[in-house]
Amino acid sequence: MPNHARGAVAATSLATPSADHATVRGDGPWPTESAEQAVAWDEGVITYVGPADGLTGVEPEWFEGCTIAPGFVDCHTHLPFAGWRADEFEARLSGVSYRDLHGEGGIYRSARMLAEASDDEVLAFCRSIVQEMADHGTTTLELKTGYGLSVEAELRQTRLARRLAKEAPQICSVTLLACHAVPEGMERADWVRAVCDELIPAAAKEGLVDAVDVYVEDIAFTLDDLADVARCASEAGLPLRCHADQLGPSGATEAAVALGARSADHLNHVSATGIAALGGAAGTVGVLLPTSTLFLGSSPPDVRGLLDAGAAVAIASDFNPGTSPVVSMPEVIATACSLYGLRPLEALAAATVNAAAALGLAERGTLAPGRPADLVVLDGDAFRMVPYRPGHNPVVRTFVDGERVGGR
Ligand code: NIG
Ligand code: FE
Repeated sequence: MPNHARGAVAATSLATPSADHATVRGDGPWPTESAEQAVAWDEGVITYVGPADGLTGVEPEWFEGCTIAPGFVDCHTHLPFAGWRADEFEARLSGVSYRDLHGEGGIYRSARMLAEASDDEVLAFCRSIVQEMADHGTTTLELKTGYGLSVEAELRQTRLARRLAKEAPQICSVTLLACHAVPEGMERADWVRAVCDELIPAAAKEGLVDAVDVYVEDIAFTLDDLADVARCASEAGLPLRCHADQLGPSGATEAAVALGARSADHLNHVSATGIAALGGAAGTVGVLLPTSTLFLGSSPPDVRGLLDAGAAVAIASDFNPGTSPVVSMPEVIATACSLYGLRPLEALAAATVNAAAALGLAERGTLAPGRPADLVVLDGDAFRMVPYRPGHNPVVRTFVDGERVGGR
């Protein structure tokens, strides 16, 4: 469908990373913030970013006391799924660990809930969530499998993800989290073989996924499994991502970098070697998931160490029913600042341009002429108001490709 979206907004402040760099590494250049700026677009593409009084030929909608920023890119979520696990949250507060719940509860339980739900039920559940995300400023997001746990059920989840992507107001990228939990009654090695011989080739042949992910953990998959899946993904032309060093140290971060993964995610227990590897990585983004750290009561990674090493760091929600039922990127930004010590404009880069790089969507995540008009209008007079007010939804307007898709 041709995109005729045309519009212009102006506000007290505008904050954006530069479009000159595919990622912002630990030494910057960090986003800049300027007063009284405007953004205009035509056919969904930005035509002007600059002083409001320099914009000609179109009258912008003026937002007094507000800040314009690129739309948020939520580069790590576990949608689609079907149903919550609040009782597990309550049990954890009484001392039961996430590892203890793995079986009766956890990933296996979400797999059972997904299997029991019809396609229409899954989509109905997810539809309202993606709109909630749009209302919180998310303009691009990742969708992931991993609650299928059989070749057929994983393929079903990829097809549901593609259907959700079509319906969602955002730009979506689909990841095959082929190795999330070992299917019940199966040996780990047999599942990895099925993933390599059947699942990845089938998903690639149908064009169902944009990347492949592996959960490396003592309750999940090994470094050797990661290497095997990396080889199959590469043969299928799919980039690699990795759940790395989340519950304990495994060396998955440095392994992901060595395998040329597009991202290593979580990183709670990343070692000094892993930090150095990400610091020197050409194309691997370190994806931090601070709300899952908060929700699980885990310890944060050495975030300043990652930045000092020169890593490109992204932040995302990890939205899932077990470790992070958080839809709001403003909340993720607030948590990244207060729990992980990111500065507001570092968090902005992490939630936009660097997150877009983790998804391989280099054209998204910055405001500049020629870029897609994905932007938000936020209700504070500087970007720092976002992390300063956790719990408050600052989003007044959300635009994707110049179309208004959320806000108030
Ligand atoms: O990213 N760590 C593995 N996967 C998810 C949680 C999945 C679940 O509990 O349903 C995560 O935290
Ligand atoms: Fe995750």
